[in-house]
Amino acid sequence: MKTLTLTRPDDWHLHVRNGEMLKTVIPHTVRQFARAIIMPNLKPPVTTVIQALAYRDEILRAIPDHLLFNPLMTLYLTAQTPASEIKKVAESEHVHAFKLYPAGATTNSDAGVGNVKTIYPLLEAMQNHDIPLLIHGEVTDERVDIFDRERVFIEDSLIDITRQFPNLRLVVEHVTTQEAVQFVLSSGPNIAATITPQHLLFNRNAILAGGIRPHYYCLPVIKREHHRLALVAAATSANPKFFLGTDSAPHHTSLKENACGCAGCYSAHAALELYAEAFEQADALDKLEGFASFYGPDFYRLPRNNGTVTLERATWKVPERYGENDLSITPLKANEELRWKIQ
Ligand code: NCD
Ligand code: ZN
Repeated sequence: MKTLTLTRPDDWHLHVRNGEMLKTVIPHTVRQFARAIIMPNLKPPVTTVIQALAYRDEILRAIPDHLLFNPLMTLYLTAQTPASEIKKVAESEHVHAFKLYPAGATTNSDAGVGNVKTIYPLLEAMQNHDIPLLIHGEVTDERVDIFDRERVFIEDSLIDITRQFPNLRLVVEHVTTQEAVQFVLSSGPNIAATITPQHLLFNRNAILAGGIRPHYYCLPVIKREHHRLALVAAATSANPKFFLGTDSAPHHTSLKENACGCAGCYSAHAALELYAEAFEQADALDKLEGFASFYGPDFYRLPRNNGTVTLERATWKVPERYGENDLSITPLKANEELRWKIQ
């Protein structure tokens, strides 16, 4: 196959930051995706509809003129979120979901929720207003091994949330384990998951074997090969519960190549190309369109996009870095070749 044309896709989990970083990364997303669910973990976090609309305007101002893009905003859920804010989200055209970060789980999650049970009244309100809840599914208990934190979160919190709120629409973001895939498969149609390119393409050797490679470090951390295989099987199964969410998470190179490096892989520069590689390896390129372009909008009850993107079978080398002046972002697969290219 020389070219592959898909209905224009969307990215259902994306970090674009703000300021100069935003201006550098947003063109990468806009050239391939029509819409993206924008993560609210700024400093300070985006917790109100008013803040989300201001952030949305900043994103729109950073987009090159001729390109159309719709940022789908989310609010950062905290124990202090008032019920009135949930009603405002329900009435908002531009805010589509709440994001739940367990406190301390990942980058800029200090304001997250400690004990999930304390926010059950808020989850009830979300269920009543039919607003999706997006979950970073990891426990933060230091006694739990970092590679087990997703599985333990499912056992300790997620199962109970879905029992208490059986009609809550919920996305388990960036699933990384066989157990998470199994959980989603055994739940109702209101429970879905996003999958990143790095979790489809790599296992934990990419981070740790033959040297420590900080640009492959993200949270939840990339797991063993059998988990990767479970994720590939889910993504390529044409099951609408699994859809594209890059979790592209840019950080300054110096904060990644650091004695205590930040979590997050930058993948927006080549997101669709990276997914195409993963699907091609699984001999499932015919399943990419559903995963990238159909199941996400169906879950969020938004129309599928008009228009298309075409990938061609062409080798190109990923640059070593993106950014001007002092800004440097090291992309996933920096200095390496990719097999697909967007026309
Ligand atoms: C994300 C970031 O940098 O904002 N990092 C990551 O490793 N995925 C936060 C997140 O989604 O966990
Ligand atoms: Zn994320």
